[in-house]
Amino acid sequence: MSIVESLKWRYATKKFDTAKKISKENLEYLKEAVSLIPSSYGLQPYKVLVIENPAIREKLREAAWGQAQLTEASQIFLFCNFTSMGPEKIDEFLNLGAAINNYDPASTKGYGDMMKGQMASMSGEQIINWTSKQTYIALGSLLAAASELRIDSCPMEGFDKAKFDEILGLKEKGLTASVIGAVGYRSAEDSHQFLKKVRKPMNELFEMI
Ligand SMILES: Cc1cc2nc3c(=O)[nH]c(=O)nc-3n(C[C@H](O)[C@H](O)[C@H](O)COP(=O)(O)O)c2cc1C
Repeated sequence: MSIVESLKWRYATKKFDTAKKISKENLEYLKEAVSLIPSSYGLQPYKVLVIENPAIREKLREAAWGQAQLTEASQIFLFCNFTSMGPEKIDEFLNLGAAINNYDPASTKGYGDMMKGQMASMSGEQIINWTSKQTYIALGSLLAAASELRIDSCPMEGFDKAKFDEILGLKEKGLTASVIGAVGYRSAEDSHQFLKKVRKPMNELFEMI
């Protein structure tokens, strides 16, 4: 199946079949698809919580206007973005690259200083905005990979981020909740699966220049 066929198949699942769980192997595949997606500079300024714990998911559901996907999906991928991007994070990233590709980290000092300068020039709010944007790219990869495996999903930002941060103790970890990818298998009772896709005409969405 092509990626376009898979994307036609997927839809934002409202009701998951609680009896069907994603296999360990498929879960690893989804995690890999999230991990391999690019981020600005490659910094991956986020952490992804894969949440299964039913008690925690009950609490999260309450903080998400009661949306059923929070407790009914097989897993919840919660993308959490970094709330700061200090120089130590850049050094960590450069050291990882040097170790993986076997070069002297000192050779990347100029590049590192440039990145550090850019991060330092942004306000706290701008940093959070920028790191949050990166998570949406990773979310897209999760949704696409899931559709390839015929795993259903629902992207979600209808939740109280401050409450999520509190429930999961994210602030203390330098993180804040950004966006959710709920994954699992659709319930036969989910009427949304029968709706046709609503998308703008191609000539309105795209302009050739
Ligand atoms: C970033 C984002 C946030 C969304 N938040 C929610 C949400 O909180 N709850 C929900 O049921 N659907 C949510 N959706 C699903 C969209 O409404 C849905 O993807 C859109 O209407 C297109 O329909 P389709 O995904 O079925 O093709 C969200 C989608 C995106 C991309």
